Amino acid sequence: MFDVHCHILPGIDDGSRDVEMSLEMLRRETEQDIEGVVFTPHFYAAQNDPETFLRRRDRALKELEASLNELPKIPKYTVGSEVHYFRGMSRADGLEDLCIGNSDYILIEMPFRDWQPVFVDEIEEISTVLGLKVIIAHIERYFDQDKKLVKRIIENPNFLIQCNAEFFLEKKTASKAVKFLKKGKIDLLGSDSHNLDDRKPNLAEALAIIEKYDKKGALDHINRMSRSIFDQAI
Ligand SMILES: [Fe+2]
Repeated sequence: MFDVHCHILPGIDDGSRDVEMSLEMLRRETEQDIEGVVFTPHFYAAQNDPETFLRRRDRALKELEASLNELPKIPKYTVGSEVHYFRGMSRADGLEDLCIGNSDYILIEMPFRDWQPVFVDEIEEISTVLGLKVIIAHIERYFDQDKKLVKRIIENPNFLIQCNAEFFLEKKTASKAVKFLKKGKIDLLGSDSHNLDDRKPNLAEALAIIEKYDKKGALDHINRMSRSIFDQAI
């Protein structure tokens, strides 16, 4: 199992506050048998340009790496970012530098305000014009958006759909999550973990539910997709 969305890098966003917390989060990933982790700190174009963000991300990574020898075992890892939607992003300089490792996969967080068709147009252009492979972060958070637009995202064969573990773990969404899984709609999973309490690394808990209901190889598909991202990224 791979965690392709988390905020484990220290002191760069609203995720892990320091190296000590990051190490404990990583220790929990290992405990849960997570084979690979993608560190995906938030990227907000209004706060940083890509160059500044990458410098900050690099610093956070180096800080963490300097202490990794304190852990007996670590999952393999690579860095990416969770790029929050912004108008004109498909034409923005340096967008491709925000991809996961050396790959051309880019994790995108759609806006939480009411979706307009132009939002989806923009994301489609990242794929068709820039040629990047778009991963839509935690699609389950957008199920109350305009149905037609959500459908355009989910059914676009060029997009990968990522769900958070909590989709399976929250009582009110669990049955929907299982249905979505059974339809083969989930390409990738993430813990989207930010800390050690209310948003902790929790993929193994979701995995227990997934294994119970997966009869058609949905999990194999998820693992295959994750592995191919890692193979390109590292
Ligand atoms: Fe996130």
